[in-house]
Amino acid sequence: MTRLRTPLAAVALLSATLMVTGTQAASAAPEKPSLRQLAGRADLLVGTAVDMSALADDTAYRKTTAKDFSSVTAENVMKWEAVEPERGVYDWSKADDLIRFARDNGQAVRGHTLLWHSQLPQWLTSGVADGSIDSDELRGILKNHITTQVKHFKGKIYQWDVVNEVFNEDGTLRESIWLQKLGPSYIADAFRWAHAADPKAKLFVNDYNVEGINAKSTAYYELAKQLRAEGVPVQGFGIQGHLGIQYGFPGDVAANLKRFDDLGMETAFTEVDVRMILPADDTKLARQADDYRRLLDACLATAGCKSFTVWGHTDKYSWIPGVFSGEGAANLLDENYAPKPAYVAVREELASGR
Ligand code: G3I
Repeated sequence: MTRLRTPLAAVALLSATLMVTGTQAASAAPEKPSLRQLAGRADLLVGTAVDMSALADDTAYRKTTAKDFSSVTAENVMKWEAVEPERGVYDWSKADDLIRFARDNGQAVRGHTLLWHSQLPQWLTSGVADGSIDSDELRGILKNHITTQVKHFKGKIYQWDVVNEVFNEDGTLRESIWLQKLGPSYIADAFRWAHAADPKAKLFVNDYNVEGINAKSTAYYELAKQLRAEGVPVQGFGIQGHLGIQYGFPGDVAANLKRFDDLGMETAFTEVDVRMILPADDTKLARQADDYRRLLDACLATAGCKSFTVWGHTDKYSWIPGVFSGEGAANLLDENYAPKPAYVAVREELASGR
C-alpha cells in the first residue's frame, strides 16, 4: 500500500519557506526548515536517541539534537543497569539531564526501556543465577522497578517501551530470566504495573526485525490482540527499524503498520538506522536514503504512527561499528555533521506531509 504523494505541494512548501527566510536575510544562505518543523506540519514527532556523554561534551551534537528533533530517547541512561546499579540505590542523574534538555528545547521524551533481557544490573542477574533471588522475589523486584521508574518520570514521558525484544525470529517467546522464572504472564503484569504508575503514558512493545509482516511481527500482533481483549493496557507497537542495505528492504511495511492501526493501537518507528558495509559510496548512500524514505513513508501513511525516531543522528557516535565489524555510516549526518542523502530524503519526505 503506497501513500498518495504530493511532490508539487512539497516543493511549493519548501520554496515558500526558503523565500520567506531569504527575504529576511538577503545576503546569508537561506535556512532550510528543520526536520522538526516539517514533521510538526505532518502531525509527527521526529526523534533521535541521545548519547548523554556526547550531549555533555560536544556542542555540535547539542545543536543538532535541539535543532532537528522534537522527541528524544535515552540511548542507554534509562536502562535498568543505569538507573539502579545497586539494589535499591537509584541514580536518575543522567536521565534527568535528558528530561531537562528536552524541556529546555520543547521536546517530548520517549522512555526506553522498562523490561529487557539485556543491560540488567549485575546484582540482579547474579542473584537469579546463584538462586539467592527466587521467582517470587524476582516478581516483586520487577514490579518495584517498573513502578518506581514510571512514577519518577510521571507526566514527562509520552511513550514507554515497556517490554523490549521479547520474541525470537520464529515468533516464540525469548528465553530470558523473565520467561524462565515468571512465565509468560510477566508481559501483562509489566503493562498493568506501568499503567498504574502513569495512566497517561502510552505503553509500547518494541522490537527489531518487525518492520514487515513476518513470524515475529505476527507474534506481536497476536499478543497485542489477546492482551487488549483481556483489558491489558498495551497501546503501542514500536518498530525499531535497524536495517542494513545489504539485506534488501522488508516487504509489507505499510500493511504491517495498518494491521496494528486496525486494532486501535499506536505505532512508532523507534530506533531507525540503516547500516552498510564500509566504505560508503554514492550508490550505497542513495540506497540508504531510499530505505529511510520508505520507512518514513509507511509511517506517514498510517494514522496512528505518530513518531519516527532515529537511533542516533550522526555517524560520529553510532553503536554499529562496535557491534557489526566493518559496517557503519548508518545515520542521517556523517561524522562531521554534514547531511547525507538520507537526511535530504527524510526532509523531502516530511515536507510531502501525510
Ligand atoms: O556504561 C559503560 C561504561 O561504564 C564503560 O566504560 C563502557 C566501556 O565499553 O561501556 C559502557 O557501557 C556501554 C553502554 O552501551 C553505554 O555506553 C556498553 O559497553 C555497550 O555495549 C552499550 O551498548 C548499547 C547497547 O544497546 C547495549 O545492548 C548501545 O549504546 C545502544 O545503542 C544499544 O541500543 C539498543 C536498544 O537499547 C534496543 N534495541 C537495539 C539497540 C542497538 O543494539
